[in-house]
Amino acid sequence: MIKNLDGSLRQSIEQIALQKTQQNIEPGQDYIPVTGKLMDAQDLLYGVDAVLDGWLTTGRFAKEFERKLADFVGARYAFLVNSGSSANLAAFYSLTSDKLKDRKIKPGDEVITVAAGFPTTINPLIMYGCRPVFLDIELSTFNINTDLLEQAISPKTKAIMIAHTLGNPFNVDAILELAKKYNLWVIEDDCDALGATYRGQKTGTFGDLSTVSFYPAHHITMGEGGAVLVNNPKLKKIVESFRDWGRDCWCAPGTENTCGKRFDFQLGNLPHGYDHKYIYSHIGFNLKATDMQAAIGLSQLSKIEQFVEKRRKNFDYLLGLMRNLEQFFILPQPTTNANPSWFGFLMTIRPDVNLSRAELVAYLEERKIGTRLLFGGNLLKQPAYSDVPHRVVGTLENTNTIMDRAFWIGIWPGLEEKHFDYMYQQLNAYLQKVQVML
Ligand SMILES: Cc1ncc(COP(=O)(O)O)c(C=O)c1O
Repeated sequence: MIKNLDGSLRQSIEQIALQKTQQNIEPGQDYIPVTGKLMDAQDLLYGVDAVLDGWLTTGRFAKEFERKLADFVGARYAFLVNSGSSANLAAFYSLTSDKLKDRKIKPGDEVITVAAGFPTTINPLIMYGCRPVFLDIELSTFNINTDLLEQAISPKTKAIMIAHTLGNPFNVDAILELAKKYNLWVIEDDCDALGATYRGQKTGTFGDLSTVSFYPAHHITMGEGGAVLVNNPKLKKIVESFRDWGRDCWCAPGTENTCGKRFDFQLGNLPHGYDHKYIYSHIGFNLKATDMQAAIGLSQLSKIEQFVEKRRKNFDYLLGLMRNLEQFFILPQPTTNANPSWFGFLMTIRPDVNLSRAELVAYLEERKIGTRLLFGGNLLKQPAYSDVPHRVVGTLENTNTIMDRAFWIGIWPGLEEKHFDYMYQQLNAYLQKVQVML
């Protein structure tokens, strides 16, 4: 694995790496971040080793990372890209390929999704000229409310693209049933949920395509990074093409003639034998990551099981404490049949409780407890989305409640019981201070 580092060089880098990765967060004294990365010396050693290869672009580490990620999730193929947003871009655009014939998504088609989420889950479909069709969410799972799914269908509906919000899987049964009935594509945004399961099967394996993020807030990191997971060999080739400039050729960087007929193709109106390396079957992107990112990701991936376990343990401990405050807050609830891989702990001030979310969050932040809102809240209320053609099915009442009354705090693996005890004490102290009335 590590090729370029041995003896004293390895030892001195290891020592620096150890110092760099040590962290001690003292509740009350130090800020408790809502998310964080847990690094060790091995992560940095892998990164340095990749630099010393001098290869720089996608290489041996990326190849191994893709294989091991696919194995972990249980997908046939994984494609490394430079962010979760890029993964969503590559995944969605893949469904616009001519190679999919009458199943190809066209501008003007509709995609079922939610407004309570991260913008880049829906940006690709908007950019392509499709119409998002928004459904409301459930307050306790923060995932799509599937009651009105049937009503969302129109002759233009082609796909469903939604995330497993904050690591809590959506109702996979209902989504897959609808997709089957109406022949829809499903893109699972698994960016916040790596390691979660639904009926014992990992999320990221249910959709036609799924996406992962390796930004430092996420379950494993490589700084910036993401992946597209896919099972279908036809889609696999299309994803690869969109990621790699739109080219028809599938040679890895630095290799040639993998297909054995590099100068023997006749495609489009090009002359026979035009170099396959420069034949483009899609209007694509370059979304590849570097081998330095992949190396750090590979090291992180070797620890994914323990990271997910610690997130679950932290979540359970915090939930145990917060149960005492259930009359004030709607607490997170795993989706039926799911074992979440929690990204954060979302609390929603109950509609009949007279508390200011803004003041509460400011109080916690002043006491060095990191907080976040549920991403964009209701995306339709964001300045960027005011002119986006869309449909809303039913109301977005719960989406708006989450936008107005919810916030989340961290449960990432770098946190311990002492951090959660402190969070709980401070929340209690605030409730006493404002003498909240039911
Ligand atoms: C659900 C979801 N999808 C996509 C993304 C985008 O990932 P990235 O930041 O790697 O672009 C995020 C980011 O956190 C996310 O939460």
